[in-house]
Amino acid sequence: MLVTLKDILADARDNHYAVGAFNVIENVMLRTVLETAEAKEAPVIVMGLAADLEGAGWTYIAGLAKLAAEYHNIPVCLHLDHCYDLDYIRQAVDHGFTGVMYDGSSLPFDQNVKMTRAAVDIAHPHGVSVEAELGHVGGSNLAETRHVESVLTEADEVTKFVELTGVDALAVSIGTGHGVYRSTPTLNIERLVELSRAADVPLVMHGGSGTPDDQVKNAVANGITKVNVFTEERMAMFRGLKEAAKLQRVDPLPEDQFGPISRALADLVAEKIELLSSDGRAALTIANS
Ligand code: 13P
Repeated sequence: MLVTLKDILADARDNHYAVGAFNVIENVMLRTVLETAEAKEAPVIVMGLAADLEGAGWTYIAGLAKLAAEYHNIPVCLHLDHCYDLDYIRQAVDHGFTGVMYDGSSLPFDQNVKMTRAAVDIAHPHGVSVEAELGHVGGSNLAETRHVESVLTEADEVTKFVELTGVDALAVSIGTGHGVYRSTPTLNIERLVELSRAADVPLVMHGGSGTPDDQVKNAVANGITKVNVFTEERMAMFRGLKEAAKLQRVDPLPEDQFGPISRALADLVAEKIELLSSDGRAALTIANS
């Protein structure tokens, strides 16, 4: 069933686990993530980036996801990932997304507040939850043409930010980065504890890929309730693609081409669900929402 970001994260926050948030750009990814989550009886968040939704993507991904969410007997949130433009927030609302992220993390505090508040004013009247980011989770952009340093989130800004914006979830910067890590990260758990105390909304970890499992577990134990994963999905799918490319037949069946990709992605999604302890939570989340 389709649920809001706010509802899916409430149970996670109360029960000290995190929901996996996986980027999807087409049917094979969407179906693999949802089927795996259902097999694990786990609530799940599927996310699209505006760049991947351009043109017919809005209709295709939102249409498929909404239909599939009703088919699968688990809570599913359809979420817009990293959005810098209020027009895309409106598009997401119009297409039935149940969560949106407005990312003003590169803006000065006051501007971030102003733009995030505007996103909330667009989304909330339609029952759509809003995630924002304070501090900045750096790392590599998707094209790997730019690498940006992270800026840790300041605890003393959190309470004010949440109060002024009315957001439902907050992405915090505690040492993770997007993309493939150049060196193993060390998360600032002490800072996370301060942020958890300061925020009365669920906290989100971006850059979940490549972050050592023990550190992710520790972060979840200390208040992270949503973990975003994209890079490791692409790496897993690429392993599957290389396996499929070994096929000898000149006209391989679609299942033989997409199967290895889907299975590699499914293994990763299952691993992450277990790591975040969201397996077995689906029925309870539904009961509590
Ligand atoms: P990774 O690609 O590093 O997993 O980060 C994903 C993410 O944070 C999407 O918002």
